Amino acid sequence: MVSLYNKPVFRFQVFCAFVIIVLYIIITSNLELHPIGLQQVQFRGPSIQFENFTDGRGAADVEKAKKIKDAMKYTFWKYKEQAWGYDDIKPVTGGNASSRNGWGAFIVDTSTTMALMGLWDELSHEVNHIITAIDFDTADGLVDPFETTIRYLGALVSLTDLYEAGVINSTKIIERHRDGILTQAVKLAQKLAPAYNANTGMMWTRVNFTTNEGEGDPPTVYRWDPEKIQYKNPTIGPARAGSSILENRVLTRLTGDISYLANSTRAWAPLVWNKYKEDWPGIIDGPIDTFTKSPVGHQRHWDAGHDSYYEYLIKAALLAPHDKYTPVYENRWIAAAESLRKRLVSQSSPTANHTKQHLYMSKWDSGYSLNEMSHLACFAPGNLILGGKYLKMPHLVTLGKALLEGCRNTYASTPSGIGPEKFSWIPHTGYPKPTFEPQNALQKYEVDTYGFWLADSRYLLRPEYVESLFYGWRITGEQRYRDWAWEAFQAIEKHCKTPYGYATLKDVTEIGENKRHIDQSESFWGAETLKYLYLTFADTEVGSLDEWVYSTEGHPFRMTM
Ligand SMILES: *[C@@H]1O[C@H](CO)[C@@H](O)[C@H](O)[C@H]1NC(C)=O
Ligand SMILES: *[C@@H]1O[C@H](CO)[C@@H](O)[C@H](O)[C@H]1NC(C)=O
Ligand SMILES: *[C@@H]1O[C@H](CO)[C@@H](O)[C@H](O)[C@H]1NC(C)=O
Ligand SMILES: *[C@@H]1O[C@H](CO)[C@@H](O)[C@H](O)[C@H]1NC(C)=O
Ligand SMILES: *[C@@H]1O[C@H](CO)[C@@H](O)[C@H](O)[C@H]1NC(C)=O
Ligand SMILES: *[C@@H]1O[C@H](CO)[C@@H](O)[C@H](O)[C@H]1NC(C)=O
Repeated sequence: MVSLYNKPVFRFQVFCAFVIIVLYIIITSNLELHPIGLQQVQFRGPSIQFENFTDGRGAADVEKAKKIKDAMKYTFWKYKEQAWGYDDIKPVTGGNASSRNGWGAFIVDTSTTMALMGLWDELSHEVNHIITAIDFDTADGLVDPFETTIRYLGALVSLTDLYEAGVINSTKIIERHRDGILTQAVKLAQKLAPAYNANTGMMWTRVNFTTNEGEGDPPTVYRWDPEKIQYKNPTIGPARAGSSILENRVLTRLTGDISYLANSTRAWAPLVWNKYKEDWPGIIDGPIDTFTKSPVGHQRHWDAGHDSYYEYLIKAALLAPHDKYTPVYENRWIAAAESLRKRLVSQSSPTANHTKQHLYMSKWDSGYSLNEMSHLACFAPGNLILGGKYLKMPHLVTLGKALLEGCRNTYASTPSGIGPEKFSWIPHTGYPKPTFEPQNALQKYEVDTYGFWLADSRYLLRPEYVESLFYGWRITGEQRYRDWAWEAFQAIEKHCKTPYGYATLKDVTEIGENKRHIDQSESFWGAETLKYLYLTFADTEVGSLDEWVYSTEGHPFRMTM
């Protein structure tokens, strides 16, 4: 009897099956070994946006979206005429300013807004400039790796993603541009590499683009005694240390070069895998010594200087749900959000003419509760709504909505309808003893009338409030968020528009005609404020939160496996 196995055809089939099994094992184990998400898989992410937009409610509010697009066009063409190539325009006098190393921050930072708005003519001017006119080899002044990563690098990798996703498909913009933009992103990332070469891998706060060396800030001295050194080594706050992972992960995905993701992972590792005791789980004590990774201060909050580290924990998880570290990032975000809820949230007292109470976020420093909040911190409501929805933790969505109402009060109460740069309130009984009290008749009047007083009365064209309204609208579908966004836009249009753009307001409580502006307009006005306003009135499929993760500068990155 001849064994079946001896039949040549059968042997060949067994051999083929064997090869297929081996290949299968190799491929699947390879995926296990490289869970970083380098594959270019088009991926419909989790359901973040409100489920029932399909009933027609998610359609664009065309008229309002157009008004916001007009504001972007006005901003662009004034800049184009007066200040092309400089970082920013001076919106009152039509002069120019360059505080972002002179590479044309406005052009790069607003380019992703042009793409989402479909402003192809404007975008093609910008793309041409990016490819042909920017030289990242040289810089005006020392380079700040944090600002440069979020404004420039983030925009460049986001633009590349927008090409790949087909969002940029205008025939006006030639195909090869996608590669030109990526080449510039790689060039910039390589120039930024010295930022990551400190002994601990934590970031230097400056890079000299001539010597290609990183450097820390000079030793910190005491405010009340500049002769006395407080921190000898360079220090860094959580936001600077932990806000480069999204941008660099995308660059690694686009280039296949693992070093970008590896370096930015190492840079925030001391925060994510903090080996120091945390009195409030998830909350980092700052600032941190760059050379020893140990906390040297005891500041705890989600406000300026700490904010985007917490923001990026949940966004890193969203950007790459199957990365091996994603569960760690999610748990760290949950811990920090719960500690925020238990330790930092503060309800205001009713006052003489403002009986409604609001929820705000305080800060903490070495045992003192600081009852003041920056406009910047109004990013947190949106971040809580985003993470709460994704992780199915509805109480965090509720918290985000309550904090968003607090931010809204800072807009709705003032005569201009715009919220201030910084404000304080009197905490209700049961909340920690406050550090700040109203100091003069004006502040007493403000707290009686608005329920808060102004600690810094400017409005710098910042996005955080309307950014949170965008998350509120896209995730809950509640019309009031669109209404509040429209109120904010109308107030900004009325009070900030100047002959050459939109300008910083000196005082949001002043509505007279005279000298109300500061001759300054930062690139986040076009990169973020106008983008989030536009997205709030565009069709909810534009830049959907089910497909895109927005960086701390408002640049969208595609979610991947
Ligand atoms: C969505 O619509 C369905 C059907 O009308 C309804 O049952 C459901 O409660 C709605 N969901 C939300 C979150 O409003
Ligand atoms: C930019 O500003 C500088 C200094 O204010 C000025 O000398 C220069 O002419 C300006 N450039 C343009 C193109 O207006
Ligand atoms: C960069 O370093 C060189 C050499 O030390 C120095 O001359 C130059 O001023 C530095 N650049 C900046 C912008 O500080
Ligand atoms: C570009 O994409 C948009 C939206 O996906 C689509 O409506 C439009 O027809 C496309 N245009 C071209 C030239 O392919
Ligand atoms: C990554 O960090 C290493 C080690 O400090 C450094 O040599 C390298 O240049 C960095 N690369 C990038 C792309 O940041
Ligand atoms: C409260 O508002 C009323 C009416 O606007 C005003 O007359 C009164 O002086 C205010 N009281 C305080 C304590 O501000």
